[in-house]
Amino acid sequence: MAAFTERMALLLMLWLVVSLSGTWAVDRANFKTCDQSSFCKRQRAMKPGESPYRALLETMELTNTRLTLQLINDNNKVRLLLELYRLQGNITRVKINELKPLKPRYEVPDVLIREPPTEPLSLLSQDENGVVLSLGAESQRVILSARPFRLDIMEGRNVLMSLNSRGLLAFEHLRMRKDTFSYKVTSTVASVWDNIKSVFSSQADPEAEKKEEAEPANQAETAEDAGKEEDGMWEEMFKSHSDSKPNGPSAVSLDFSLPGVEHVYGIPEHADSLRLKTTDNGDPYRLYNLDVFQYELYNPMALYGSVPVMLAHSAQRTTGIFWLNAAETWVDISSNTAGKTVFGKMLDYVQGSSETPQTDVRWISESGIVDVFIMLGPTPKDVFSQYASLTGTQAFPPIAAIAYHQCRWNYNDQEDVQAVDAGFDEHDIPYDFIWLDIEHTDGKRYFTWEPHKFATPKEMLQNLLDKKRKMVAIVDPHIKIDSNYKIHNEIRSLGFYIKNKDGGDYEGWCWPGSAGYPDFTRADMRAWWASMFAYDQYEGSMENLYTWNDMNEPSVFNGPEVTMHKDAVHGAWEHRDVHNLYGLYVHMATAEGLIQRSGGVERPFVLTRAFFAGSQRYGAVWTGDNSAEWDHLKISIPMCLSLGVVGISFCGADVGGFFKSPSPELLVRWYQTGAYQPFFRAHAHLDTPRREPWLFGPENMALIRDAVRQRYTLLPYWYQQFYHAYKTGQPVMRPLWVEYPQDPVTFGLDDEFLIGRDLLVHPVTEEGSRGVTAYLPGKDEVWFDVHTFQKHNGAQNLYIPVTMSSIPVFQRGGSIISRKLRVRRSSTCMEHDPYTLYVALSPQRTAEGELYIDDGHTFNYEKKEFIHRRLSFSNNILSSINLSPESQFSTLSWIERIVILGASKPKQVTLKTAGAEDTQLEYDFDASMSVLTLRKPGMNAGIDWTVTLE
Ligand code: NOJ
Repeated sequence: MAAFTERMALLLMLWLVVSLSGTWAVDRANFKTCDQSSFCKRQRAMKPGESPYRALLETMELTNTRLTLQLINDNNKVRLLLELYRLQGNITRVKINELKPLKPRYEVPDVLIREPPTEPLSLLSQDENGVVLSLGAESQRVILSARPFRLDIMEGRNVLMSLNSRGLLAFEHLRMRKDTFSYKVTSTVASVWDNIKSVFSSQADPEAEKKEEAEPANQAETAEDAGKEEDGMWEEMFKSHSDSKPNGPSAVSLDFSLPGVEHVYGIPEHADSLRLKTTDNGDPYRLYNLDVFQYELYNPMALYGSVPVMLAHSAQRTTGIFWLNAAETWVDISSNTAGKTVFGKMLDYVQGSSETPQTDVRWISESGIVDVFIMLGPTPKDVFSQYASLTGTQAFPPIAAIAYHQCRWNYNDQEDVQAVDAGFDEHDIPYDFIWLDIEHTDGKRYFTWEPHKFATPKEMLQNLLDKKRKMVAIVDPHIKIDSNYKIHNEIRSLGFYIKNKDGGDYEGWCWPGSAGYPDFTRADMRAWWASMFAYDQYEGSMENLYTWNDMNEPSVFNGPEVTMHKDAVHGAWEHRDVHNLYGLYVHMATAEGLIQRSGGVERPFVLTRAFFAGSQRYGAVWTGDNSAEWDHLKISIPMCLSLGVVGISFCGADVGGFFKSPSPELLVRWYQTGAYQPFFRAHAHLDTPRREPWLFGPENMALIRDAVRQRYTLLPYWYQQFYHAYKTGQPVMRPLWVEYPQDPVTFGLDDEFLIGRDLLVHPVTEEGSRGVTAYLPGKDEVWFDVHTFQKHNGAQNLYIPVTMSSIPVFQRGGSIISRKLRVRRSSTCMEHDPYTLYVALSPQRTAEGELYIDDGHTFNYEKKEFIHRRLSFSNNILSSINLSPESQFSTLSWIERIVILGASKPKQVTLKTAGAEDTQLEYDFDASMSVLTLRKPGMNAGIDWTVTLE
């Protein structure tokens, strides 16, 4: 059996290798279109019209914080229960479920960080047409119209968002299968049938039914409303796979109208532009975690992760929709201004024929309930805080994790690891983590080491530790079925595997051959998994070994769409209900394992490929198997921006491209781009030629080294941004419209971004480029080129001539950024190094910044063991004040230089620190660039000080 599985694994590998050398495009036939996904097809066939749903106002119950009301579908008389809550922080929650479902419908657990706190709701008015409620203090109201049912959320006289205004609310109620009854019902089971009938009739109110009988069915009636059985309701085939659908149809769908909105963002993961496109002429955007081999760009196909959150933005306001549903989901977008050019819009305006722009969206999920959080902004930052209040913020990573990572599939053995490690030293390139892919294991048995190639893992890890470097080893969630494998035996005996529809352990093919898939939706399974990371369980592991969770969509090579059968069983639920959550749970359990192994002291670092809303709490994500192509380099920007705006800041793309081989130019440009993205890791497919930076000749090596070193110098700023993301939920890598929400030029930019508020990056992503045009926003802003210190005014399109060494990066005038310029082997080696402060003056000759310092790797910052200082410049005085006087931490780092951009020449410069004599500082002044450099001020970075220019 073992030999057989090995052979199958080999065959699989061979198949992959062969397909790799073939054409370079996704095999679309492996993945469903909306038409091939029966619920999507059914729901999409329903066109806007009058909704069959009516609110039964007489059923309304209003407590201080909750409104409930029944809705009836006038076509089939099935009732739904609507719940409406006003949540703290300008959020409205709407839940819709069947009033009496045949069996419970899945409600997503573990994603919200707590039961969201509510605020009072109050009734403003009510008549037979509907009710008006006031929402909190923001002069907001919700108008609930009864016939047909719709909700309009208003602020003052403006409608912010409408629900079911296009009548697309649909709820496929759970039911018994009719054709099964027709041949199964015999006189002996007639009583059962009676019971079933009574269950059905209990869903409808007989009184209401009588009243409604006379009314004609309306135009929005669907086949399912009319009780027609359609293909795919009770069984669905895709290629050779059958989905048994024991619960029958169960989809939910709802439409949202966004008046005044032309731009929507989010709902990752798609390899598409940041600004989402309308879907009228193609498929909706799909959210279904899938292992897509050689994914295509600029299309709405599903990828590895799903975050069902969309942001709607206009110059006036930003709002968000969080659709909390973990089943396969499709999102349609249409807009009344789609396809109109700016000129066309202007013409409409001049002719007075312009209608208010509006975007309409519609969410369709295969099962579960409608549970939607409407985040009402009004600014992008408010929406980020609102979303963070629901699902939490980015985990604060150890500082090493935001440095550079060197990965490939695979580093072959310990000698290889040692040689690569030495290569970095020899070429003076810093790195923090070296990664081991699946080949490091003993036959793809995770938590083990290939006995010949990695015979002494601790020795290898210790060598790295001696250099203050770390390692990541892959641990995938598919478990080799092998009775000699401890992990498998325990999972099997504990009954922790996901079950197939017939009750046996679910088996699928993945790297090890036949594999089982642990049921990570179970808390007891996750606790067991976490315990496997203990040093005495995970042999050969040490404190500088971290983890990579791959293939956790989950990937099942022989499953439908390369994933798990939807009728597989997780306790009371089908895989269908929980699919998009699986990867989050794997990530959660692994991160917990890394925390526990250190007794709760050390921060974990775990990279995941699959994710869901809330995954930000557990670590980093990357954009999966991209390709060494220029377009893949370009798409890394909108893909990470789209993740950032829905809470997942720690994002990166494989530097160099996973498949194929980059040209030296592409590789250099990729390093230059990756050095300015949150997760910075080079990675390559098993079959690609080696690509350590020194293999491309001395010139390219030097360019790559320079890019990596730029990253290291900027680590203090990156770390501070991650601290902010952790505290506030604001994205680290940001679209420009987040900071310039009223500037329409920023709304569609895919080729540049901000890091935090103060650094603007426009990487070179075109082959053979001799220049880029960067948009510098803000008519009152100035921007300083971080390399030349040249000052530029915003708002303008600035043409920047580039050479191979150029990475166009600008610091906002008005900001202070700290760097460490003495780059060493790893970030840990730089821990106590001194800082250089870059003070970029605004036109008003002011600047502000922060400095955040802690130990860089433990959770002690939660106990206030950190330094957090405000740096500010005004009236010619630069000062550092304590932002957190109650914290306790000391640093050996000091300020070794201060560079003031946009300065004039002072007569003298005086440093004052508490308890010490004033010192006159030496300085240089470059009059041509207006740059003042204060040499060796020398004060400790953790104390109060002022520097006065006179
Ligand atoms: C797929 C991942 O996306 C890729 O990064 C990895 O190298 C392979 N699996 C092998 O583990």
